Amino acid sequence: MGPRWSPRRGGNLTAEPVIDVRGLTKHYADIKAVDGISFEVEKGQMFALLGPNGAGKTTTVEILEGLRDPTSGEARVLGVDVRKGYRKIRNRVGVLPQDFEPFDRLKPREAVAYWAKLFDRTLTKEEVAGLIRTVGLADRADTLAMNLSGGEKRRLGIAMSLVGKPKLVFLDEPTTGLDPGARRELWGLIRQLKSEGTTILLTTHYLDEAEQLADDVAIMNHGKIVARGSPANLITQFGAGAVIVLAGAGDAGLQAVSQRGVDAELNGSDVWVRVPIASDMRGMLEKLAAIDTPVTEIYTKRASLEDVFLKVVGARMQEGVLAA
Ligand SMILES: Nc1ncnc2c1ncn2[C@@H]1O[C@H](COP(=O)(O)OP(=O)(O)OP(=O)(O)O)[C@@H](O)[C@H]1O
Ligand SMILES: [Mg+2]
Repeated sequence: MGPRWSPRRGGNLTAEPVIDVRGLTKHYADIKAVDGISFEVEKGQMFALLGPNGAGKTTTVEILEGLRDPTSGEARVLGVDVRKGYRKIRNRVGVLPQDFEPFDRLKPREAVAYWAKLFDRTLTKEEVAGLIRTVGLADRADTLAMNLSGGEKRRLGIAMSLVGKPKLVFLDEPTTGLDPGARRELWGLIRQLKSEGTTILLTTHYLDEAEQLADDVAIMNHGKIVARGSPANLITQFGAGAVIVLAGAGDAGLQAVSQRGVDAELNGSDVWVRVPIASDMRGMLEKLAAIDTPVTEIYTKRASLEDVFLKVVGARMQEGVLAA
């Protein structure tokens, strides 16, 4: 038995999804920025849109934020049609735009209070301080925004997106350009939001980010969703199990491996052996360890969302080229 109440089951089973997109398109002259996509995001979920530059992620997000009108199709957010009802939900939705830049001459403390006013909310000093603390900017609260680092600006943007205590937050590339430490700190903040029940739609180019954070992932390419599922599910569906890498084995290594009837490929000077099923790993390792060509290192790597991405996006790109 699970807990007495869980957000996925129980009374929520028949609840309307927080985001419901059907056959959505957005065309600019001859560009199909969004080309007939459908997906749902349930309450409390973290949904990630992945895809290369120009795939249509920001266009999709901005339609769902009520900032652009779709060409056709349906999009409902918190139960309202984004074309008609946005005024009703505007202050329940938090938005961090791609490449967010705060006003240079405002300090975080002022920027958060000002932003709240724009949403017809007056925050008390304590509430402003609380938001700033939530995003880890307490000791920068009185520094002009122009003097904040990139990561600090992004965190200020998240604090601003939270002024209305939103049920749903859109984060368009929240961690692009941040150093690895700052990215991980932001992941912590995003996880915290999720743990409080906030529904989050995130776009990212970082596949590890989606793998770490998202319950559900849609990979977009040329305006279409080309793969969809949980990270684990996508990896099983499209990934290649695991890979044994014979680092530095080179051509000689490849030949030695092939002579033993093992399928392998050369990747730079490394030999890659794909092992589709995990339980075959031990036998394969034993076989490869017996090869007497020199290697600098033998290691295994699990298929990742990156492999999935390259497979589905790479394949589509090739299709595009072939079709042209
Ligand atoms: N206002 C516009 N007018 C014309 N074309 C546009 C407009 N906005 C977006 N596009 C085009 O639509 C496509 C999708 O752009 P979009 O910004 O949604 O991509 P993205 O997936 O967010 O890319 P990135 O990862 O680079 O942010 C691109 O080809 C872009 O040039
Ligand atoms: Mg974008």
